[in-house]
Amino acid sequence: MTSIRFGIIGAGAVSDYHHWPGIEIDPRAELVAICDPDERLLEQRQSDWGSTRCYTQAEEIAVDPDVDAVIIATPNFTHKPIALACIAAGKHVMCEKPLGLDFSESLEMYRAAHDKGVRHMTAFTYRFAPSMRYLKDLVSTGALGEPRHFRSQRFLDLPETSWGWRQSKKLAGAGDLFDMTIHRIDFAQDLMGPIASVCGSIAQYALRDKTEDGRDCPPSDVDDWSALIARFTGGAVGVFEGSTVMKGYHFGGFGREWAEVNGSEGSAVYQLTEPNTILIGKGGESLQQVDVPAEYLTPAGSPRDPAEGVPATVFRYDLVYEFVSAIVEGRDAIPGFDHGAAAQRVADAVLQSHEAGTWVELPQELE
Ligand SMILES: NC(=O)c1ccc[n+]([C@@H]2O[C@H](COP(=O)([O-])OP(=O)(O)OC[C@H]3O[C@@H](n4cnc5c(N)ncnc54)[C@H](O)[C@@H]3O)[C@@H](O)[C@H]2O)c1
Repeated sequence: MTSIRFGIIGAGAVSDYHHWPGIEIDPRAELVAICDPDERLLEQRQSDWGSTRCYTQAEEIAVDPDVDAVIIATPNFTHKPIALACIAAGKHVMCEKPLGLDFSESLEMYRAAHDKGVRHMTAFTYRFAPSMRYLKDLVSTGALGEPRHFRSQRFLDLPETSWGWRQSKKLAGAGDLFDMTIHRIDFAQDLMGPIASVCGSIAQYALRDKTEDGRDCPPSDVDDWSALIARFTGGAVGVFEGSTVMKGYHFGGFGREWAEVNGSEGSAVYQLTEPNTILIGKGGESLQQVDVPAEYLTPAGSPRDPAEGVPATVFRYDLVYEFVSAIVEGRDAIPGFDHGAAAQRVADAVLQSHEAGTWVELPQELE
């Protein structure tokens, strides 16, 4: 079997945390090139990851004929130009969220990938948590009855020092909303169907005008709290809240992640820190923690041993498994750039609703 030859573009935190390990454990994939403008980091990753080629310019890796597929894990404002260059050169592309700086950028990326016929995937990590995969089946098979309510809370207790590119609207698009809440918008639409209208709000509390070592830096101009009420096309309602400055919610860096669906017959809850279990309760009962059935612990055929590693970390390796499977099997990867654009349209509407102080209706066709 010939392997899919990968290039990683952006060798920072998330590439080291789960993209490289995902490539490393998949016998159908091989890391052949890394690209990052930070030459010291590039050298370190080359030694840690064992890749053969290094680039400092994304345009160079885009045209490397020995690279079949790329993972783009760079600051948000660079996603679109890098993705378009790689797509034009015929590479399959997995890109981090948020796909672009707004819906129109994301849609352009989707159209380019679709028209070129390459595989495309948005790195919506939490869809791959075992309890999330099980929750999706519970909802879609009707085990919870008619879905009525969706609820999510994502709280992180992060230091209030500079967060680099992430705290600049020009470079990141938005703060917590595009960094954290957009994942919840994606999996809510996956579980409940499309969102028809939203009423949203954002707020900023942390100035972040000092670096970790106490130097002055430009203050943040993005939100660190975001919330929305949503109405789904199927009639269900949703309530979402996220914040990166929730004191007391550190929990080893994982914070609090709670997402639930309440149906006419029962409720079920996914929690990031307990991804191999789920809370389930039927009408008249109290929620009980049960193990996620074995067939949901990894996707079928995955090389990952679900008994190994920290459960809240290792399911993230399944993103690469899905992307490689889509390339090998000649099918669409899920979630694709279309899902990335659909989530971004809702996130944009939260900003619009916040500005206007009104509900915002969402068109249902992507194009
Ligand atoms: N899916 C998830 O769960 C998840 C988790 C964390 C981050 N992210 C996303 O991943 C992306 C990267 O986040 P991170 O935390 O790894 O950031 P990071 O700052 O740790 O790493 C980004 C890297 O990109 C490099 N870079 C900057 N411009 C570049 C360019 N033009 N070409 C190539 N490399 C370039 C930087 O030097 C840096 O090493 C962001 O879009 C973020 O939203 C997703």
